[in-house]
Amino acid sequence: MLKLEKLVAREILDSRGNPTIEVTAFGVGKKAVAMVPSGASTGSHEALELRDGDKSRYLGKGVLKACENVNLVLNKELTGFELGNQRALDEKMLALDGTANKSKLGANAILGVSMACARLVAEVNGVGLYQSLNPNATLLPVPMMNIMNGGKHADSGLDLQEVMVMPVGAKSMKEAIRMGSEIFHNLGKLLKEGGFQTSVGDEGGYAPSLPTQEAAFEIVLKAIEKAGYKAGQDVYLAFDAAASEFYDAETKRYSFKIQGKKEQLTSAQMIDFWVDVCNKYPVISVEDGLAEDDWEGWKMLQEKLGSKVQLVGDDLLVTNTVRLEKAIAMKAGNSILIKLNQIGTMTETIDTIEMAHKAGWNSVVSHRSGETEDVTIADLAVAFSCQQIKTGSLCRSERTAKYNQLLRIEEELGDTAYFPGERAFK
Ligand code: PGA
Ligand code: ZN
Repeated sequence: MLKLEKLVAREILDSRGNPTIEVTAFGVGKKAVAMVPSGASTGSHEALELRDGDKSRYLGKGVLKACENVNLVLNKELTGFELGNQRALDEKMLALDGTANKSKLGANAILGVSMACARLVAEVNGVGLYQSLNPNATLLPVPMMNIMNGGKHADSGLDLQEVMVMPVGAKSMKEAIRMGSEIFHNLGKLLKEGGFQTSVGDEGGYAPSLPTQEAAFEIVLKAIEKAGYKAGQDVYLAFDAAASEFYDAETKRYSFKIQGKKEQLTSAQMIDFWVDVCNKYPVISVEDGLAEDDWEGWKMLQEKLGSKVQLVGDDLLVTNTVRLEKAIAMKAGNSILIKLNQIGTMTETIDTIEMAHKAGWNSVVSHRSGETEDVTIADLAVAFSCQQIKTGSLCRSERTAKYNQLLRIEEELGDTAYFPGERAFK
């Protein structure tokens, strides 16, 4: 029997240098650590990330209250709790919190415990987390690699938050990662030759001041070619518009630069722009092309583009089964982004993945822009056969940590490992 002996939480730093919470769970002479990520372009329907708001420390961003909720409240309530049934543990924490958005204990506190306990079970059983979650797991996710950063993740002036490449022609994770890296470095060379900056944004993608959005696509396409790959065959483009960031709910307009000129677009005009982009470029996936509460717009977007392109809901769905159920019923999109800290427990995250797959939707497990060296998302994607993973660029250790974990898992699975490539798209 595996009984939880102790929980210890501490304030650590994330990849942006902001505080976040780390939890260590102890039991039967073993321990396991989990670190919680943090977003910047957060959806307003996400579970609550508890921050101290004390301006005298870390500009108000401290997480000592969340740590205290683990060290005092959860530690007391959960010591002696029998682990192995993740749902029972997570439900107990939900009951202790008692709020709809985890605002009493903090979703960051709850998630830290949820992840650390899942890791402790794997540790005690001497297996990888992915195996502990599903002993029959074999599918490796196709990566969405973010090599150009804009929006809230860089000061580049690019409205699009992320321009990504997807090496669908790869035969394995190992090959996909090599292809992504080669494209990333070729993009760096091209930018340098063009006189642009080659510093990177929060997720490790380049953040040059390009004249237009279109120029971002063009130069990424060139980098794919220069690396020796064929766009639209070996490699496709994907992007995250993170449209909630440039939507004004009052005027119902999207403030977006087209050919370098700021326009105020209706939902229908925004959709027309995405349709044009998808006709012009080899785009396979569009995330948050519209804002988080523009349900009618999403429905229209699915009607116009959904049969051709993967339409991923991030801020719209916030890894929440209630919102996902509505989207499935309305046909508002066809895929979901999965972020553990949007909902706050392992169990609810898994429920959301399973609901999506049951409806024939794809799932894309995702990092946050503020990350740590924690690699749980790599194991989660494999364990639940999520077709895709979004974990940033091919540089910065908090991003490459996840790719490196996927390499380890692929090696461990050996001949049973299955990399779906193009088949990841329905
Ligand atoms: P965030 O960005 O972590 O800043 O929310 C990631 C995303 O929008 O997908
Ligand atoms: Zn997003």
